[in-house]
Amino acid sequence: VSLRSHNTLGFESRAQALAEADSLLSLRRVLAIGRHRFSRVIALGGGSNVVMNPDIEGLVVRYTGQRIWQKFLGPNKALWHVEAGVNWHALVEKTTREGWWGIENLALIPGSVGAAPIQNIGAYGTEIGDVIESVHVVHLENGRYEILDRAQCDFGYRHSVFKTALAGKVMVVRVVLRLDLDGRPRTGYGDLAERLPENAGPDDVAIAVAAIRRRKLPDPLVLGNAGSFFKNPVVPAEQAEALITRFPSMPFWKTDQGTKLAAGWMIDQCGWKGYRDNRVGVHQQQALVLVHYGQGRVSDLLELAMRIRESVEVRFGVTIDMEPGIIGH
Ligand code: EPU
Repeated sequence: VSLRSHNTLGFESRAQALAEADSLLSLRRVLAIGRHRFSRVIALGGGSNVVMNPDIEGLVVRYTGQRIWQKFLGPNKALWHVEAGVNWHALVEKTTREGWWGIENLALIPGSVGAAPIQNIGAYGTEIGDVIESVHVVHLENGRYEILDRAQCDFGYRHSVFKTALAGKVMVVRVVLRLDLDGRPRTGYGDLAERLPENAGPDDVAIAVAAIRRRKLPDPLVLGNAGSFFKNPVVPAEQAEALITRFPSMPFWKTDQGTKLAAGWMIDQCGWKGYRDNRVGVHQQQALVLVHYGQGRVSDLLELAMRIRESVEVRFGVTIDMEPGIIGH
């Protein structure tokens, strides 16, 4: 079965089989069949942060549950229980329209709610890990249900336990978010503040963030991409200082783990922005995003990524790591 419409990079990829489940009961049934008949069971969300190999051995499973409900913790606070199949941006639109603060800075990120905690989606100074109460998962191996609280999720920059100890082992079925009717815009990042009206509500913030993203990031329905293809590297403070002395216009952010550098800026400095090699290339407006023009091969994209990585290493002495996950060998 073709997975071309299930990965936003738009590469042709074939899995042995694809199954969807919209309830826990049907998910458990699908997993039981999968374990029995296939060598592997692979969980897939919206496919917006994955690179798929052409041939995928095993059964690919998607959880498509769409239910959303709230439990109030007081007059102005609530836990939002959201099933993994809900589209992430649709959730941001709903919560912000209803006046809830918490995920407004994360507007227009492609993908599903279930995939959001895997890479700890983050933009404009907010990460989903900041507002997550818990993540509900089902183990692929035995159907066991488990609830992980925020600490157990081990969130970090583009990082979580779902990329380490639980990688490839669980299907996220529900995310519980702690949202608030009282709040204020968080405008510490970039030029967001200038784009907001006075007394901005969460809906105004979401609209402003979406406008910024539309300017820089390609719409996956129009041009294949998986958002940022590399993570922003975090380097020791001394190394960053030496680099900033040599390259005074280099953007950076101090964090608890070290200094975060802008991979997009470095790639841009190496002259890659807008580069095109036949069917793949580097986005015109944001050098951190690799794009697929259609009819290309995954190996072309990975080869380009290697060349970019090498040139950044040579010029800046910094290694940049790939951000999306790889599916299939
Ligand atoms: N820059 C350039 N040239 C470029 C790209 C960036 O000079 O081609 C410079 C910008 O001018 C800016 C700095 O680099 O000074 C950072 O750029 P930007 O604000 O666009 O953010 P980013 O670091 O490139 C990260 C996230 C994005 C997120 C934005 C906004 C990662 C890997 N990427 O990008 O997330 O939307 O910040 O918060 O952390 C994603 O993960 O898919 C993604 C799009």
